[in-house]
Amino acid sequence: MARPGILGVGASVPEKRLTNHDLEGMVSTSDEWITQRTGIRERRILREGEDPTVLGIEAAQGALTAAGLGAEEVELVITPSNVQIMPVPGSSALILSGLRVRDGPRANHVPFFDIVAGCTGFIYALEVARHMLYGGYRHILVIGLEALSRFTNWQERETCVLFGDGAGAVVVGTVEGERGILSSYLAAESAKWPLLQVEAGGTQLPASRETVAAGQHFLKMEGRGVFEEAVRMMEEASLRALEQAHVTKEEVAWYVPHQANLRILKAFARRLNIPWSKVLVNIDRYGNTSTASIPLALAEAVRDNRLRKGDLVVLAGFGAGVTYGASVIRW
Ligand code: ACO
Repeated sequence: MARPGILGVGASVPEKRLTNHDLEGMVSTSDEWITQRTGIRERRILREGEDPTVLGIEAAQGALTAAGLGAEEVELVITPSNVQIMPVPGSSALILSGLRVRDGPRANHVPFFDIVAGCTGFIYALEVARHMLYGGYRHILVIGLEALSRFTNWQERETCVLFGDGAGAVVVGTVEGERGILSSYLAAESAKWPLLQVEAGGTQLPASRETVAAGQHFLKMEGRGVFEEAVRMMEEASLRALEQAHVTKEEVAWYVPHQANLRILKAFARRLNIPWSKVLVNIDRYGNTSTASIPLALAEAVRDNRLRKGDLVVLAGFGAGVTYGASVIRW
C-alpha cells in the first residue's frame, strides 16, 4: 500500500551558543535554576544581522538531500512558524526564493503558504501536506522555522531563558508498504489564547514608538498555565492519534514531544505511562525552538541512527493559540 510519508529530514541551527552561564550575566538567574526548572543548558541564537531565512534554506536543502531529490522536484512549500521573517510576504516566499527552483515542471511557479498555529505548527502543516498529497502533489517541503530570540525580552528572566532559534524540515511524499503517516489528530482551545501572545506589531496594535517603549513586541507567556495545559493536551492528542492508527502505545519506538521544558516532557511520559528511554530529548542543547523543535529532534535521531526505517513514531505538540495535536508515523 502507498501512503503519504516522510522522505527526508534536515535541520539547521545558528552557530552562536548562548549558555546558562552567559544568561547569568544578563538577568538575575542561575545555571542551577534554569537546569532544574527547564532542563535547558544552552540554546542557539542568531547573531545581530544574521538572516533567519538561511536556517530555513539549509534545513530544506538537508531534507531534500536526505530524500535524494533536487529542489526542482518540490511542488509546494509550507512554513509553519509563530513569527514570520517579515510581516509581508510570508516566510515561505523568502525561503523558496533562496532555494532557487529554476528548472523542472514548476520552476519559478512553486506555490507556498505559511501556517501560524503556535508550536504545534509543524504537526498542523504535516497534516495539510498529507492531504495535499491525496490531491495530486508529489513532493512537499514542510519547514519549521523559528527565530524567537528576535521577539524575546532579554531583560525578562521568566521567558528569555527558554527559547532558541532553529529550523527543521521534512519532504513529504509517497512511501510504500506499511510505512507513512498513519494518523493525525489536530485540536485547539482558542479561548485560552491569552496564555501566549505578542501583543503589538499586528493590525490590532500596529508598531509605534509607544508599543516599542512598552515592550509590547515581546513574547508574553503565563508559564504555569501553559505548563499544565501542555501535559494534558499532548497526552490527549497522542492517545487519540494512536487509537486512530490502530496501534498501541507499547508498539511505539519513539515519542517526539515538542521540546518546551524537560519537566513537561517527563510529566508527559509519566501520564502516558511510557518508558522515558523512548522519548527523544534535545531541549538541553537547543531550548524551545517552537515549530522547529520536532523536526530538529527527528533530524538528529536519524543522523545518529536511533530512528530507523519501520520504527513507529508519535509526534506530539502544543503551542500558542492554544493549539495541540499529534501524528503517528511508521518511519
Ligand atoms: N531564574 C531564576 N528565577 C526565576 C526565573 C529564572 N530564569 N524565572 C522565574 N523565576 C522565579 C520566579 O520569579 C518565581 O519566584 P517567586 O517564587 O519568588 O515568585 C520562581 O522562580 C518560580 O516561578 P514559576 O513561574 O512558578 O516557575 P515554574 O517552576 O513554573 O517554571 C517555567 C517556570 C519554566 C516558565 C515553566 O512554568 C514552564 O516551562 N512553562 C511552560 C512554558 C512553555 O512551554 N512555553 C512555550 C509554549 S509554546 C511556545 O513556545 C510559543
